[in-house]
This record gives sequence, structure tokens and C-alpha cells, in this order.
Amino acid sequence: MTTLTLELFTILVTGAAAVLYFVFASFVFGAGYQPTSRSAVARMLDLANVGPTDRLVDLGAGTGAILFRAARERGADVLGVEVEPIRILILWARRALGGPADRVRIRWGNLFDVDLTTTSVVTCFLWPGAMERLKPLLEAQLPAGARVVSHWHPIPGWTPVAVDRPRHVFAYRWTGPTTAPASSSASAGARSSPSLQPVVVNP
Ligand SMILES: C[S@@+](CC[C@H](N)C(=O)[O-])C[C@H]1O[C@@H](n2cnc3c(N)ncnc32)[C@H](O)[C@@H]1O
Repeated sequence: MTTLTLELFTILVTGAAAVLYFVFASFVFGAGYQPTSRSAVARMLDLANVGPTDRLVDLGAGTGAILFRAARERGADVLGVEVEPIRILILWARRALGGPADRVRIRWGNLFDVDLTTTSVVTCFLWPGAMERLKPLLEAQLPAGARVVSHWHPIPGWTPVAVDRPRHVFAYRWTGPTTAPASSSASAGARSSPSLQPVVVNP
């Protein structure tokens, strides 16, 4: 093997390892990396009716596909929580270069540790196992009236208020816990579930 071939091979292997790390390393925390498409972000922000009075949290902010559009186009106060450090650097750079610095907060940490009690909109694009873990946190912390919009994976057991099937967007409105009547045989396992009927949104 010539020196040039060896160098090329080393570059290729290093590059592939870097890509694999960037995309898959965070999988152990709840999801790998894949940015939400522009059209899905637009539909998520529309279905959640995001506006300037909102406090939006993107759980697993990635490189900011949802975060910066919510702040720039909708005027929301946003918090992006991200566990992977290179993406945190990218988020910091994006905020430094384009802002708005006063409305975008970025937290390097675990999304399962975030306080959601003052949040009006939650956005997420996580793997099914993470959605399972997230559900009880949403139910314990979200104020009534909060909206949750998930890309690709629904929240297990919740009824969406709107679904965009082509873009894989599921929108929910948290109405607070509902408790079954005491006489109900299901009362022991009463579930909280937003009760509005689903609307399927066409492309
Ligand atoms: C599929 S990407 C979505 C990124 C962004 N929300 C978007 O829609 O473009 C999921 C992101 O969640 C992050 N993530 C996964 N588990 C996490 C955890 N426990 N805490 C914080 N971030 C997490 C990953 O690092 C990844 O950047």
C-alpha cells in the first residue's frame, strides 16, 4: 500500500467514524440526529399555532431546525435542549450569527431533566422509546392548554388534535389530567388523555 493510499484510507475511515458519531452517538440518550425538514417544521409551528406569547421548548434541539424558525418567524421565546456537544457548538454559533439572542436559550443537557411547568409549546423529534419516557413527564409538568407537536413518532396513548400524515406531524393539546369516575372499573388505572377529536390535515 502506498503512502498516498494509506492517507486516503485514513481520511475515509476517520470521516466515516465522525459521521457515524454525529448521527448515532446520541441514540443512547433518546434519538440519533436527523434534522426536521423545512415543510415539516412549518406544519409543526402552524399546528401548534406558535406566536410571540409562546414559550417553546424543543426537546433534543439538534442543529436548530425548529428552534430558530420558532424564534425568528414566530417571535416565540425558545429553549433548545441538546445532549450532544458538537450540536451545542453549532447552536451557539447559529445564535451568535443570526440571533435573536434575547429569545433563544440553549441548554447542554438531558431533555428528561428539563422543567416544563411554564412551557406553552413542546416540540420534539425523538425515537419511540424516548416518547414513552417523555409521556409521564409531560403529563406531570405541562400546564393545561400547552401544545405538544411531535415529528415522526406519536405520544403513546394520547389522542392528537391534528395529524399531518404526509409530513409525519402529530399535534396535541394538553387539557390536564382526566380522572375516571370513582365507580368506574378503570378508575384505578385512570389515564390522562387529551380528549379532543383528531383532525387529519391534508398536504
Ligand atoms: C432526530 S434529532 C431532531 C433535532 C431537531 N429537534 C430537529 O427537529 O431538527 C434528535 C436530537 O435529540 C437529541 N437528543 C437525543 N436524546 C437526548 C436527550 N436525552 N437529551 C437531549 N437531547 C437529546 C439528539 O442528540 C438529536 O440532536
